[in-house]
Formats: sequence, structure tokens, C-alpha cells
Amino acid sequence: MYSLAARPLIFRLPPEGAHKVAETALGVPGIWNVPKAFNGARNEILKTNLAGISLPTPVGMAAGFDKDCKVLGSILNLGFGFMTGGTVTLASRPGNPKPRMVRLPDQKAVMNSMGFPGQGLEPALKRLSKSQKYKSRVLVSIAGTIEDEIFECLRRTQPLISGIELNISSPNTAGLKIFHEPARLRGLIEGLVSEKQVPLFVKLPPWPRDDENRREILKLAATAVDAGVDGLVVANTHPIESSRLQVGRGGLSGAPLFEHTELMIADIQAQVQGQASIIACGGVSTAEHVWQLLAKGASAIQLYTSFIYEGPGLPARINKRLAKLMKAAGITNVADISGDPPVIK
Ligand SMILES: Cc1cc2nc3c(=O)[nH]c(=O)nc-3n(C[C@H](O)[C@H](O)[C@H](O)COP(=O)(O)O)c2cc1C
Repeated sequence: MYSLAARPLIFRLPPEGAHKVAETALGVPGIWNVPKAFNGARNEILKTNLAGISLPTPVGMAAGFDKDCKVLGSILNLGFGFMTGGTVTLASRPGNPKPRMVRLPDQKAVMNSMGFPGQGLEPALKRLSKSQKYKSRVLVSIAGTIEDEIFECLRRTQPLISGIELNISSPNTAGLKIFHEPARLRGLIEGLVSEKQVPLFVKLPPWPRDDENRREILKLAATAVDAGVDGLVVANTHPIESSRLQVGRGGLSGAPLFEHTELMIADIQAQVQGQASIIACGGVSTAEHVWQLLAKGASAIQLYTSFIYEGPGLPARINKRLAKLMKAAGITNVADISGDPPVIK
């Protein structure tokens, strides 16, 4: 129904306008309190554990959709097992000049150069305090260009949530690159680890088949794990150049990323050898994708762009089909998923 009726209308709006409409709709009290029986997340066999966080399903909403933590509950009620609010920065930011979000419908992809537009930490904290009934399934992504900003975000956010995602990988905020220097990253993470009260994840940049990049980022992953993170998010958008974005470059997300995500999860699993949990992110749109990434060593997945193309029913559909695939394979625990997904109708 979404593809036939709602999407053609929504896609007539510019992407950021469409996002505002979606956010407003998700903010209407009550209507997204979908009976949980319909969102597929009630199926006992989908229950899983992510670095000590109990989840009803391994399918989560990625950072960037709800930058100011306005609609966390509505998103979770659609059937997501968890969601990452943010990326939140200490001070409010205007972000980059527009256009900074462009749809590529033929590829089911999006290019963005948002640059962290957001209201800053204070308003996010107020909203998180009001949504404490969802606390057990909410992570918040934080970022800053100096250590002190990041520490303050961690200290003030963590009492209200279940996990922190440190974003050092947005391609749209130049200042983050300082944390791609291993010694600086180690210092930051060791400091955060000494203060953290909830699991800490680091979101890595991607390494799409470029050997030099690959070695560099795997080194960052090793550094982060060695410094004590609980998990890694693999990965952020892929850097891209385009004159359709005002600043000339940004990050690509959506379907074209999936094959790279699969390769990166295999790489990262070989690297961390079970010492940290892995959240796979990039191009996921089906239960078969979820299966493939869990089979390669991820504990959970996140998606964003496929939600734009497939609509609010997507998490429920993925949950239901994942449970069906597991039943067909005779598996009763998400952690036992391995090999290729069974072929079913
Ligand atoms: C419009 C847009 C904004 C995003 N903003 C953030 C962000 O603030 N922080 C972050 O860590 N990732 C951000 N991302 C990246 C996503 O979290 C995710 O890593 C990426 O889109 C790949 O997943 P997907 O193919 O399922 O979309 C953003 C992505 C998009 C499309």
C-alpha cells in the first residue's frame, strides 16, 4: 500500500520535506501504538542480545532518522527491536547548505551531506527523559570535534538510555577525522570506557574494496576493541561526489551498499574474533539480508534508507519473514543463524 499510494505522494516532496512530514505523522500521539501482535516483534524466537542489551528482534533503526530524538517510541512501535537516536552534538548545528539530501530511486539509494543539523544535547535530553518507558531499547549516537564535547554528551545521555554509539565516521563533518588517528582514538575511547555505564559502540567508516582504506579502518577497529568498546557499527555511508549536493560531496546509502556490508562484516568478524559485538548497517532491506549478516557474525542490524523506500510496514515484514526463515531452517534462536537463508516463498 505504501509503494502504491503513499510513496508517490511523499516522493513529490523534496527529501527533507518528506522527512518532516514523516516525522510529524510519527509524532501524532497514539496512532503508532500499533498492537504489538502486528509488528512481528512479539515472536519469541527473534529475541536476542546485543552486548548485554536484550532485544525483541535484531532489526534496528539506524542513526540519522531521528536526529533530535523526537519520535523514538513510534519508531519502536513499528516493530524495530531498537533504535539509535541522533547523531546528537553538544551544541545545536545548522548542518550543511541545501540541497543536502537527494534520492536515487533507480538504485533505491540516497545521497546526503547533512552535516549533523540538530537542536543539540539539551532538547534531546528533555525528550529522552519523557520517553523513559522505551529506555531499554534506545541507543543514542553522539559526536563532537573535541574530546570534551563527546565526554559531556556521554555523561549526560547515558542515564537515560541503553547504549551509546560514538560516531567518528560521518563523511560530512570534516572535524571527525581527527579520531581516525589511532592514538587519538585510543585516548578518547579509554577515557569514555572509564566513565561509561552502558555499552559503548563505535560506528566505523566503510572500506569499500580499497586496500589502503581497508587496512586503515581495520586498524581503527582493532584499536577501538583493544581500548575496551563493547561493539562496532559497520558502517556509515560511503563517500561520494555529486554536483546535486550543494557542498559537492556526501555519503551514499541504500541498496548499492549491501554487498560491501557483507564483505565488511566478514572482515571485521575475522578481526575482532568475538571480542566485540557487531551491528551491521548498510543496504539492508529484507529478512534474507538480515539472515546473511547475522550468519557472517553480526549480532544485530540497522537500516535507514530502505525504510524511506519501503515505508512504515518494513520492520514488521522483516520480522515476520525472518521468523519464517528460522522456522523453515529448524532454528529457534537468532544466535544460531548460519549459512545461507533457506529458499522459501
Ligand atoms: C539522511 C541521512 C542522515 C544520516 N545521518 C546520520 C547520523 O546523523 N549519524 C550516523 O551515524 N549516521 C547517519 N546516517 C547513516 C545511517 O545511519 C547508515 O549508516 C547509512 O545510511 C547506511 O544504512 P542504510 O543503507 O540502511 O541507510 C545517515 C543516513 C542518511 C541517509
